[in-house]
Amino acid sequence: MDKNPPKIRTAVCADERLQNLKNTFEAKYGESPLFFAYAPGRVNLIGEHIDYCGYSVLPMAIEQNILAAVSVNNSGTIMLSNTNPQYKDFSVSCSEAIVIDRENPMWHYYFLCGVKGIQEKFGITQLVGMSCVIDGTVPPSSGLSSSSALVCCAGLVTMEANQKSLSKTELAEICAKCERYIGTEGGGMDQSISFLAERGTAKLIEFQPLRATDVKLPDGAVFVISNCCVEMNKAATSDYNIRVVECRIATKMLARARRLDQSKLFRLADVQTELQASLRQMMTLVDEVLHPEPYSRDEICRELEITPEQFSTELLSPNTQHVTHFKLHQRAWHVYGEAERVLQFKSVCESQPAESIRLLGELMIHSHASCRDLYECSCYELDRLVDFCLKAGAVGSRLTGAGWGGCAVSMVPSEKVETFLQAVRKSYYLPRGLAMDKQSLFVSKPGGGAAILLEE
Ligand code: GLA
Repeated sequence: MDKNPPKIRTAVCADERLQNLKNTFEAKYGESPLFFAYAPGRVNLIGEHIDYCGYSVLPMAIEQNILAAVSVNNSGTIMLSNTNPQYKDFSVSCSEAIVIDRENPMWHYYFLCGVKGIQEKFGITQLVGMSCVIDGTVPPSSGLSSSSALVCCAGLVTMEANQKSLSKTELAEICAKCERYIGTEGGGMDQSISFLAERGTAKLIEFQPLRATDVKLPDGAVFVISNCCVEMNKAATSDYNIRVVECRIATKMLARARRLDQSKLFRLADVQTELQASLRQMMTLVDEVLHPEPYSRDEICRELEITPEQFSTELLSPNTQHVTHFKLHQRAWHVYGEAERVLQFKSVCESQPAESIRLLGELMIHSHASCRDLYECSCYELDRLVDFCLKAGAVGSRLTGAGWGGCAVSMVPSEKVETFLQAVRKSYYLPRGLAMDKQSLFVSKPGGGAAILLEE
């Protein structure tokens, strides 16, 4: 029998953080908030950089979230404030068109992405004025999806303030789409898990159509998140979009080699669907069709029989126009291999054989190696941290999120957690003089999805 999915509206429970936020709100705007809303960050257990290629991923929500206190006002303005003084107040008139400056990804633009998503969905010409105070506990630029949590929270708040109603799935789809206004061509994992998460379970997230299925993690192990403390802001660099573009070009090259209509295929998964091939067969095809040496623009244009103008406008994004060489074999090989590891991870969780923990750990280790060597989305410090985590007793460890910095996620047998934490502190954090607070090294259990909190 289907269990009841958690509701998007729930009653407020007394809690210190909420009370503090309420106080800040009252001090700032001289009135009480009408409602609160929150959206969690996430940790991806396996399935990195494959959502935008059409493949399923396996994240869970974390306890850390973006929390907003909101009231509706008559001033015709959206007023934003953040409890973190590093993020400056911002306000915009509801009668102005929402403009998101991609060159300058400041915190309030993520909020505005969510507002714009809802505005467009309902064709709202005049949004209601809102006063908001935001309080975030997701460490920023750490691969735990603080920016998507902010976009999702903003989408939810805007929906509620404008008295609209949407399902969590619709909200997830809208927020995945509208976050792209910031300039990164994200795949939708972060927004999907932020809305569709349920306490106590990881989720397999499938796309087109969007679906989230419970994945029961084995007893006897916990997931520990550790931040290598190299910050990575994916909207401020072009690394992320370069990977998206490389996968798009690889899609076209594979399609063309198999005489498929490349103009209709955009994601590596589309080629697999068209060919009705297995992931292994796709990896063989990658070996046959693509060479490991980087491809120049000329070579790609020649192979695809397109002009340099078409190449720039149809395949590149605005922030990848400068790129001259593209690694196609390595990226496609990673994507098909990682998609297969996600399915293997899920099936181990389903059948729970005696050696589940060891098997899942191995998949995580292979995933990290593929991200590091083929997808080249790790960095020196993150690789060191993953090595230290494995030496400290993790059965598996890998980067999580976009990479190039940020966090690793490690699977640690429950009875070894304390010694693990101590060993990682000693080997990674202490020698580098890094802070070891709850933001940088912590055990994480699967948290619940985004919700609106109303006074009863
Ligand atoms: C970011 C994106 C996601 C996903 C991951 C990498 O978090 O927002 O869509 O692509 O990177 O797996």
